[in-house]
Amino acid sequence: MIDPQRFREVMASFPSGVVVLTAFGLDSLPRGLTVSAFCAVSLGPPLALACIDKTSNTLPAVQQAGSFTANILAAGREQLARRMASKLSDKFDGIAWRRPESGQGGPILEVDAAAYAVCTLTQTIEAGDHWILLGQVVEGEQREGVSPMIFSRRGYFGL
Ligand SMILES: Cc1cc2nc3c(=O)[nH]c(=O)nc-3n(C[C@H](O)[C@H](O)[C@H](O)COP(=O)(O)O)c2cc1C
Repeated sequence: MIDPQRFREVMASFPSGVVVLTAFGLDSLPRGLTVSAFCAVSLGPPLALACIDKTSNTLPAVQQAGSFTANILAAGREQLARRMASKLSDKFDGIAWRRPESGQGGPILEVDAAAYAVCTLTQTIEAGDHWILLGQVVEGEQREGVSPMIFSRRGYFGL
């Protein structure tokens, strides 16, 4: 089997966007984490997936709510990406968000996102130390003229 460090280096050479995946907890409070493992799966029906570590504190909220929002961060939001990648309990303090119109999903980070997709959870698939969350996209929008952020080899870039 490949050495874990080498596996990380190999995968880090595949550039991705940066998503803040959000959900509401049973207490109605926002939860979220930074995710690079996010991609489109199917057009008909519109499906997307995200891979989440089993130890994530956001995971129970996604599973209980049965839905999540993928906020595709705009370029220049490194600080937000780092904050959402922490284990802080007050991650959302001072951050602008709104509830999706569909009543599904988690907070939409409108001013920090280049686009967002609200998803209802259709399947959770166990995969090693992560869960694959498969979601049907029920609502979404892109902000014209706002460039997404790129993550590659541990660096953040604009287009
Ligand atoms: C750029 C970046 C990408 C990340 N991608 C993922 C990912 O795809 N899946 C994952 O579970 N964690 C990923 N993480 C780590 C989580 O954001 C981190 O473990 C976070 O503390 C989890 O928060 P939570 O326990 O409050 O849910 C990433 C972190 C960064 C900085």
